[in-house]
Amino acid sequence: MSAEGAVTLVEDDRDWNPSTKAGWFAMADAPPRSRPKSVRSEALAAMASRDRLVYDHARATWHANIGPIRTPGVDALFETLEELAGANRQDGEKVKPAVVLDALPGLGKTTAALAFGQAFHRAQIELYGPKVPATGDHWQRIPVVYLGLTSNTTMRSLNAMLCRFYGLPGADRGTADWLASRAAECVANCKTRLVIVDDVHFLDVNRRDGREVANHFKWLANTFPVTFFFVGVGLRARGLLDEGLSGADAAFSQTARRWSVASLDPFEIATKSGRATWRQLLLGIVREVVLANAYRGMIVRDLSDYLFARSSGHFASLMSLVARGCYRAVKTGAEVLSVELLDAVRIDQAAESARVHLHAALSAGLLPADTDRPRQEGAA
Ligand SMILES: Nc1ncnc2c1ncn2[C@@H]1O[C@H](COP(=O)(O)OP(=O)(O)OP(=O)(O)O)[C@@H](O)[C@H]1O
Ligand SMILES: [Mg+2]
Repeated sequence: MSAEGAVTLVEDDRDWNPSTKAGWFAMADAPPRSRPKSVRSEALAAMASRDRLVYDHARATWHANIGPIRTPGVDALFETLEELAGANRQDGEKVKPAVVLDALPGLGKTTAALAFGQAFHRAQIELYGPKVPATGDHWQRIPVVYLGLTSNTTMRSLNAMLCRFYGLPGADRGTADWLASRAAECVANCKTRLVIVDDVHFLDVNRRDGREVANHFKWLANTFPVTFFFVGVGLRARGLLDEGLSGADAAFSQTARRWSVASLDPFEIATKSGRATWRQLLLGIVREVVLANAYRGMIVRDLSDYLFARSSGHFASLMSLVARGCYRAVKTGAEVLSVELLDAVRIDQAAESARVHLHAALSAGLLPADTDRPRQEGAA
């Protein structure tokens, strides 16, 4: 293939903050990135130096943003969320259940939550339009709110966060109650239907602050047709899910009964279905890698075990290894992924530590990574 059309510079920095209305809308309305065209090595060598710079820049951005890839875990989560958010149309006085995504760090919780939120946002606006007719089209429809909690989130800071999301002026002033009433007004007028609360593990239900925040969520869910989607690490272990464990008051304990709990697991290769999922994931990545010397079988056949050992089945580690590996392959001119090249790429410490053990297990044949390995794969 010629290099023609592969080298248009697009300044496509997407440094939005989804915890604000402006950032959320920018993200939700953004068109998908387009994949840089594949160029074979002869055409790459013939490129003018500026064209080459532009092309390599586009590839680095592309490789850093592969996905979201729909894995069976993500599909199951979407199904639960769709069902719940769709069915949560109860009248004001009725209880509305919430969904919780409780999983280990780096397994794609935030990515999946944002992807679902984005799809939900688009569907609601397509169905009902961008304005809220009941308010004389005065209010904008804001179907989804996304909040990332921080340590020491209090009732007041939570309400300020909500006000800030809606872009209300003076979100940093006023009492917790006043901020709450302004936030509630926005939830009602903007017809917000889904509130995603990320990093819920920062809530400490053994403290009054934490319980107040949890009760406020419950009040919002009961007062408005809002589905809460809580995302965090070790929520059950922290007593955020099970009543009793938390030692919380009766009002908070009620919350536990209304939560459906979903999880995302690390990838594994010890079972047949685990290996099939791992292979599917790698095939998803193969399609997105843009390297001039990529060849059929480069990833799924030749790097499957290696990538598993390096990432210990964690999405975050795998994707940063692939992105950095591709960057290195471009920079060194190798234009291909190999064990040798990837060995020089360092990723997060947790994955690096687990790598030693997994490599040993794979070499000793203790993990049947290649039992179901197919003979063919799609072109890389
Ligand atoms: N479905 C996916 N497709 C492609 N890449 C993904 C996917 N999910 C996660 N990743 C990669 O893993 C990285 C970490 O994902 P994410 O931040 O969603 O994990 P998390 O579970 O929220 O982590 P934490 O517990 O640290 O908040 C992402 O930046 C992305 O590179
Ligand atoms: Mg996260």
